[in-house]
Amino acid sequence: MKLVLIGAPAAGKGTQAARLVKHYGIAHISTGDMLREEVAKGTELGNQAKTIMAEGGLVSDELIIAIVQERIKQDDCKNGFILDGFPRTVVQAEKLEEMVALDKVVYIYAPDEVMLERLTARQTCPKCGATYNKLFLPPKKEGICDTCNEALTQRKDDTVEAGKNRIATFHKQSKPLVGFYGDKGILIEVDGTMPIDDITKAIIAGLDA
Ligand code: AP5
Repeated sequence: MKLVLIGAPAAGKGTQAARLVKHYGIAHISTGDMLREEVAKGTELGNQAKTIMAEGGLVSDELIIAIVQERIKQDDCKNGFILDGFPRTVVQAEKLEEMVALDKVVYIYAPDEVMLERLTARQTCPKCGATYNKLFLPPKKEGICDTCNEALTQRKDDTVEAGKNRIATFHKQSKPLVGFYGDKGILIEVDGTMPIDDITKAIIAGLDA
């Protein structure tokens, strides 16, 4: 199964991807996570991406396409994968078409104010990558990962200012993908304001239909 998850920042792509990869036994490819790893390691790529990401813009199509092209060749992608955060522009989508035939594209939608509220309250475990939310999905012990006991951190781009820029970037550069995949008849649209479990059920129902 080869899937793409589309949605504005904090629509719930990562949350749902984590559940879907377990359900279908496929690989999770998050371009945001891959870029953050490069930034943390201080590689040339990470240094190029750092400021753009912090300000809420997009890294170049060329760069991200090259990363994905290599990633999907890896062994863990043989049974399929979920692309979370790629493509983000029509140029990336056209290039992806040349690389693989997608089965479905899931668009998780929610109003901008919901996404802004969620992203400023997000907390992440630096060790296992689990995502929490101070308002909607708090850890059992404040600021501590339920699984690793590690102190949770906040992403540098999860501020109100960067969040607004990221949402605006989504509308300008990524929203056209909804029409792009809608025209191809492979789009499933899911209401991202529902509870997390209900969204997972709706996506699985759409994929298995
Ligand atoms: P990326 O890491 O992909 O960030 P994003 O698209 O902004 O998405 P997020 O990770 O913020 O949100 P999400 O939809 O995964 O939500 P989550 O499940 O965590 O990209 C970061 C940056 O990298 C980009 O800005 C760009 O610069 C660069 N980049 C990446 N890919 C690129 C590409 N292809 N081209 C160019 N540049 C690229 O949920 C958010 C919060 O809400 C969590 O706290 C969660 O617990 C909570 N939550 C989730 N669902 C619900 C729910 N149903 N109800 C209540 N709370 C919920």
